[in-house]
Amino acid sequence: MTLQIGIVGTGWFGMMHAEKLAKLDGVKVTGFVATSQQKADEASKRFEGSKGYSSIHQMLDDRKFDAVYICVPPFAHGEIEKALIARGIPFLVEKPLGVDEELPTEILKGIEEKKLITSVGYHFRYMEGTDRAKELLRERTALMALGYWMGSMPGVSWWRKMEGSGGQFVEQTTHIVDLLRYTLGEVSEVYAAYGERYMSTVEEGVSVPDVGTVTLKLAGGAVATISNTCAIPAGDRSGLHIYTNKGVLELGHSGLIDTEAGRKTEYANRQDPYELENDAFLHAVKTGDTSRIRSTYADAMQTHRVTVAANDSARTGLPVKL
Ligand SMILES: NC(=O)c1ccc[n+]([C@@H]2O[C@H](COP(=O)([O-])OP(=O)(O)OC[C@H]3O[C@@H](n4cnc5c(N)ncnc54)[C@H](O)[C@@H]3O)[C@@H](O)[C@H]2O)c1
Repeated sequence: MTLQIGIVGTGWFGMMHAEKLAKLDGVKVTGFVATSQQKADEASKRFEGSKGYSSIHQMLDDRKFDAVYICVPPFAHGEIEKALIARGIPFLVEKPLGVDEELPTEILKGIEEKKLITSVGYHFRYMEGTDRAKELLRERTALMALGYWMGSMPGVSWWRKMEGSGGQFVEQTTHIVDLLRYTLGEVSEVYAAYGERYMSTVEEGVSVPDVGTVTLKLAGGAVATISNTCAIPAGDRSGLHIYTNKGVLELGHSGLIDTEAGRKTEYANRQDPYELENDAFLHAVKTGDTSRIRSTYADAMQTHRVTVAANDSARTGLPVKL
């Protein structure tokens, strides 16, 4: 059986997913939806047997798809998911789920009614360093965590607008919030302070804060802060440092550094987490066994709620209980 996959959004990540999928046995990328027919045709030209469409409805009316990857900016969610839910087609959606809480809540209801298979692109969950940290945490007491996403502003125009991306904490730093939940459990309260220090003075149309620090209480008793900036010239650190009774676990893009009693052990991620994420989702689509999917829409909704609550807290100046 060859799985027929459609891709919605032909920017950086839509094409990244398409290229990885096209290399797999038993998988064919057979449709692309873009904001114009021309963009969709350009993307589909690169994949044999594929066709371009200017709307999700056009694509779903024309061909049969076993699953669809949604790789659009945060503001563009809604119609795509609803069309897939209506037809019962499983989807993998890139994080974040949206710019607010209302729309993803409505989408989740539809998913649950249809018992639809979903996966969300929180790829840190598929890293070997993350697996090792979870193992080590079984024998250690997590005390607190410090998280970071320190970098420069992505060039795409939607990112710099609050209504386009939801801001850095919702759009990017969500990975670290998700990693915190995945390793240390649920968040019960957030308090956020954001600022606009620099980017709006040097770039047109910037409405996202460019610095922020969020304090989080966890239901299990640990505490955390997660900070972000998009105003430095080049990427600095992104990751989560978990302080435990036996030392520090530093999780980042490349793996885990475990510092136990002054002795450092490194666990490098050897496998591509996006490939593992695909593998888990496609296995579920093929067999109905969803057990390998590490982030479903329902789970990702909890991460999204935390990031939106941080935005609310920064706006009101008050802590938000979840
Ligand atoms: N998991 C990760 O590590 C990771 C990395 C990068 C991006 N992402 C996520 O992927 C999503 C897309 O990011 P990107 O970097 O590819 O952005 P991008 O701007 O490069 O591409 C987005 C594309 O979607 C198109 N689009 C907008 N509305 C659409 C609609 N209604 N239908 C079809 N296409 C539409 C845009 O025209 C654009 O071509 C974002 O949510 C981002 O956070 C995830």
